[in-house]
Amino acid sequence: MKNVLFRKKPVGDLLNKNNDLQLKPTLGVFDLVLLGVGAIVGTGIFILPGTVAASHSGPAIVFSFIVAAIVCALAGMCFSEFSSSVPVTGSAYTYGYIVFGELIAWLVGWALLLEYGLAVASVATGWSSYLSALLEGFNVAIPKAISGPFNPAAGTYINVPAIFIIFVIASLLTLGIRESTRINTIMVFLKVGVILLFIGVGIFYVEPVNWQPFMPFGVQGVMNGAALVFFAYLGFDAVSSAAEEVKNPQRNMPIGIIGSLLICTLLYVAVSLVLTGIVSYKDLNVNDPVTFAMQIIHQDWVAGIISLGAVVGMMTVILVMSYGGTRLLYALGRDGLLPKSMCELSKKHKTPVKNTWIFAVLVAVCAGFVPLSKLAELVNMGTLLAFLIVSLGIIYLRKNKNIPNNGFKVPLFPILPICSFLLCFFLITQLSVHTWIACGIWFIFGLLVYFMYGRKHSVMNEK
Ligand code: ALA
Repeated sequence: MKNVLFRKKPVGDLLNKNNDLQLKPTLGVFDLVLLGVGAIVGTGIFILPGTVAASHSGPAIVFSFIVAAIVCALAGMCFSEFSSSVPVTGSAYTYGYIVFGELIAWLVGWALLLEYGLAVASVATGWSSYLSALLEGFNVAIPKAISGPFNPAAGTYINVPAIFIIFVIASLLTLGIRESTRINTIMVFLKVGVILLFIGVGIFYVEPVNWQPFMPFGVQGVMNGAALVFFAYLGFDAVSSAAEEVKNPQRNMPIGIIGSLLICTLLYVAVSLVLTGIVSYKDLNVNDPVTFAMQIIHQDWVAGIISLGAVVGMMTVILVMSYGGTRLLYALGRDGLLPKSMCELSKKHKTPVKNTWIFAVLVAVCAGFVPLSKLAELVNMGTLLAFLIVSLGIIYLRKNKNIPNNGFKVPLFPILPICSFLLCFFLITQLSVHTWIACGIWFIFGLLVYFMYGRKHSVMNEK
């Protein structure tokens, strides 16, 4: 039994390029950085700098963003080393399979499904609110009954815009990653453009008195804030799912992951400083703080453009997170832990069309009917758990001499992977008890699926 649960995937099988199920390598470093920024910058920057500053960190939210960035950069380096040594799809799940064996890999995959699925659903819900606000600016109102989750007491039954955007993005993904990245590029330029516009205009209205006191909730507030704004960085790990579709992954993966993280950190720190400099942090507990700040300084036209940018920006997050989710299902299907239909490729576009639609339908049901606000923290939990495994995995990766490890290497080994592990663990302890309980339920369900299906159908049974 022990051997079955901890059987490891032979790396040779994964790197076999003649495999029919291999995806095509088409992406360069520029595509990867754009994919990263596309996945990372979304709801986080348009909402969290306000709400988290107001209730957790004050203007010191800047430090919260920096702490979260350090955690992500350390984990990002570990992801980079893995994805340049073993450039195959499946991200942390596949890495777990190589170094820790099947059961841990499955649990990591299960945690990542939670991350991608809930992130797509919650960002689609945020997209729906920003769209409603934007349309209201043009005097077009989406009826309340169809623009919120099932909650008859509040008069909402279904969130049609959220479902709509998930399906639009799913159709785009079925066309192929090349086509998807082309549209992603346009959207990324647009959203970074509006963020720079906010910084460029807002900087002239900063009143340094608003930064006093800078750390009203102390160090504890900064750390709680870091566990929450961590959400704003999610997505860079989805970039590592693209490894199999990247040219020269040994060089391009680390540049793609670390480069996109760096760009996003600079944007987040600048936005937070300007935002808390324009408006007192106490007034920032609103749904659309960035637009709100522009309205306060009577820059209504900038506010309008920012709403538009937010709507576009969130679409790229949905795109890349959905991409990560479908490629994960693909890897799970290829390994037999989920049904084989998950890894069928369409003849025409060479993309996993079937799993893309299954993922879209499941996520759309969540986004359309379930009130997600309580569940958003779960996204952070799922991701942090995957990061823990990847950080620890580096130590085992280095020990395993059968794995070609001639690409990027985490510097200061083993200190940095251990710091990465400890910091991720620390952020997990900052999340609420409800999140821990919900996560426990999700994993019990995952174990049932593994013991009832995956263990019996794993392709490792044929070895
Ligand atoms: N990082 C993504 C966002 O902020 C999930 O929306």
